[in-house]
Amino acid sequence: MKELKKITNSTEETHQLGNVIGQNVSENMVILLDGDLGAGKTTLTQGIAKGLGIKRNVTSPTFTIQKIYHGGKMNLYHIDAYRMEGIEQDLGFDEYFYDDGLTVIEWSQFMKYLIPEEYLMISIHLLENGAREFCFEAHGNQYENLLEDIR
Ligand SMILES: Nc1ncnc2c1ncn2[C@@H]1O[C@H](COP(=O)(O)OP(=O)(O)O)[C@@H](O)[C@H]1O
Ligand SMILES: [Mg+2]
Repeated sequence: MKELKKITNSTEETHQLGNVIGQNVSENMVILLDGDLGAGKTTLTQGIAKGLGIKRNVTSPTFTIQKIYHGGKMNLYHIDAYRMEGIEQDLGFDEYFYDDGLTVIEWSQFMKYLIPEEYLMISIHLLENGAREFCFEAHGNQYENLLEDIR
């Protein structure tokens, strides 16, 4: 499966969707979250963290670019690339992409040149009734398998 769509009608449902993702990811995976401010990128990441067994509350890393959460079944590297718009140099992030945890990147379009070949893209759209539509796009075999697991 290469694509999948899910709709959530509340913050709680988005947490639940993230939870299922977190329960099914493998180490080394990279998830890109795109969507406007307030779409639900951080909310989904909170659910993913819970699914990984991370107890700490996940907050937006907007002012730090990256936060690392330990204590789950794997580390969670939560990156917000919003302030990296226009920066085109290697900041050493790629060492986190093949290591010991899941990397979740908000606003990944601002660090495209650092994104590995294989990844899961999740685009979030705000629907007119306030619901959120999550469009999953798998790039690579392990991500296609992941979509089978969470559909
Ligand atoms: N179905 C829904 N899915 C996600 N968030 C929702 C939903 N309905 C309402 N919200 C609210 O929308 C806001 C999304 O904020 P946030 O996750 O920080 O967005 P982003 O990280 O994309 O800027 C939160 O306050 C959340 O509670
Ligand atoms: Mg955010």
